[in-house]
Amino acid sequence: MSNVPNLLNDDGTASIATALMMSHHGFRRDLARFARALDTIANGDEARVGAVREEWQRFHMGLHGHHEAEDNGVFPSIVGQHESARATIEGLSADHRRIDPLLERGDAAFADLSTTDAALAIVRELQDLLAEHLAIEERELIPFLRDAKAFPPPPNDEALALYAQGFAWSMHGIAPDIVEQVYAMLPEELRARIPAARAAFEERCERVWGSTKTGTTRTPIPAPLGG
Ligand SMILES: [Fe+2]
Ligand SMILES: [Fe+2]
Repeated sequence: MSNVPNLLNDDGTASIATALMMSHHGFRRDLARFARALDTIANGDEARVGAVREEWQRFHMGLHGHHEAEDNGVFPSIVGQHESARATIEGLSADHRRIDPLLERGDAAFADLSTTDAALAIVRELQDLLAEHLAIEERELIPFLRDAKAFPPPPNDEALALYAQGFAWSMHGIAPDIVEQVYAMLPEELRARIPAARAAFEERCERVWGSTKTGTTRTPIPAPLGG
């Protein structure tokens, strides 16, 4: 893991690179949580089946949305400035087209958790595909995003609420001083919404995973829960 980048820039500030990598952290974190939750269900504790199934839908939308944002926004913007990144980006977009059908298969698997084998197989396959995919983005593209600091102001109230929920999700498990640096980068109207969204997200964690417990990381790799 020695090549894992830091969430913050070398000067201690946050950038768009930080925000993108916090999402990567969230996908890795949640796949590990799904694997644990499926194990619990397989062992006969079905109390959270409905909540885990709902959370899968959110994960599906979140990862698909992340791919769309990269394919339609982040990637074209990088290629426009760094032609040398074109081949890498074409490979990454092809990965997105391979990963998205897996999310569809996940919907079917999570719809019937009377046996968890199919869902667990999808989670493991996603972990394998994403391990390499996210590492390539972090190694090859993140350096191009370190200077980008202007987070676009959400265009309307609905977008504001969605971004606040997204940050609440991606901040869970990130070191507090890094969260402060991210706040400093965000438009005031968005920043103001996030504390309430984080409180709601904690409740959701309790409902879905039975715990709000999380590690504290300074990289896009989640920290171990520590027991
Ligand atoms: Fe990607
Ligand atoms: Fe990504």
